[in-house]
Amino acid sequence: MIRTPLCDLLQIDHPIALGGMGSVYAPELVAAVSGAGGLGAMGCHYLTPEQVHVGTAAIRKLTNRPFALNFLLFDFEEDAFASALALRPAVIAFAWPSPEQDVKQYVERAHAAGCKVTFMAGGVPEAVRAAKAGADVIIAQGTEGGGHVGWQTTMTLVPMVVDAVAPIPVLAAGGIADGRGLAAAIMLGADGVLLGTRFLASTESSLHPNFKQAILDSDGHDTLLSEIPDVAAGLVWPGAMSRSRRNRFIERWAGREWALRQRQVEAKAALQAARKTGEVEEAVLSMGQDAGLIHDIAPAAEIVTRIAEEAERILTDRAARFIAK
Ligand SMILES: Cc1cc2nc3c(=O)[nH]c(=O)nc-3n(C[C@H](O)[C@H](O)[C@H](O)COP(=O)(O)O)c2cc1C
Repeated sequence: MIRTPLCDLLQIDHPIALGGMGSVYAPELVAAVSGAGGLGAMGCHYLTPEQVHVGTAAIRKLTNRPFALNFLLFDFEEDAFASALALRPAVIAFAWPSPEQDVKQYVERAHAAGCKVTFMAGGVPEAVRAAKAGADVIIAQGTEGGGHVGWQTTMTLVPMVVDAVAPIPVLAAGGIADGRGLAAAIMLGADGVLLGTRFLASTESSLHPNFKQAILDSDGHDTLLSEIPDVAAGLVWPGAMSRSRRNRFIERWAGREWALRQRQVEAKAALQAARKTGEVEEAVLSMGQDAGLIHDIAPAAEIVTRIAEEAERILTDRAARFIAK
């Protein structure tokens, strides 16, 4: 069994975390990952304070293991955050502050509520900023990942962040979907991994079945990093683009974001409708390049166990085999 210092810090069995995904509300998925000994996370970005309560209660009904509540700082919702702190989750997971935000106050409030704090960063300066603010764990998120990401690859970013924030533990994210990814992350100096796309294709994920199928169908080459989903949503993200499936909707507007801006209201409504009906070509499907590594829809607990066991096999058998005696 792989145990890293992160497991003790967060009181989990496997160093495998679910990324908070605000656009995919699924307390069952959060509970399944935590129940299997990983760290589940509920994205609270689109939730009202009442929904934070309801979602947290649903998780707690299914498991008494630790989980995280995730907040995007640039679009901060004080009421939802206050309600999350009152619920005292084991972990508050922050991501995406705007450049001028004082992040320390948020970390301190989470600590005062008895929560550990994870902080996602797509570059070394952001990671150092989070470390200085007192974060307990830094998540180094590479550009291969699904949703909003930076420009640095996981392979290069993780060891740079590990060096920059030592001794704070680092989780590697972006492009990781199996035990090979966990083993590689450990070799790069990380204490574990955080996954989004892999868990989107799980039994408990609330994603439309057509979208889950699109992840299975992907060869990993069919994503595009663009501002198109944010332009359509009317959002300005602080220094990031978003990786999603390169479908008809994305291809229609690539290079014509100005025209999409003119028709934003109409486009947003059409996207919401396409999401409900599962129109793979006309909805935004955020997914990472690791979609090419995902070949089945499995229960989240099984995904956690598989990744942990595969990584252990690699580290004990394969890695050791290449040491010349
Ligand atoms: C559909 C989707 C929604 C996401 N929403 C959030 C979010 O609300 N908050 C957050 O911190 N990260 C969010 N992310 C990023 C994930 O937490 C994680 O960093 C990313 O999925 C890792 O890359 P992977 O998809 O290759 O595993 C999202 C990712 C996806 C795919």
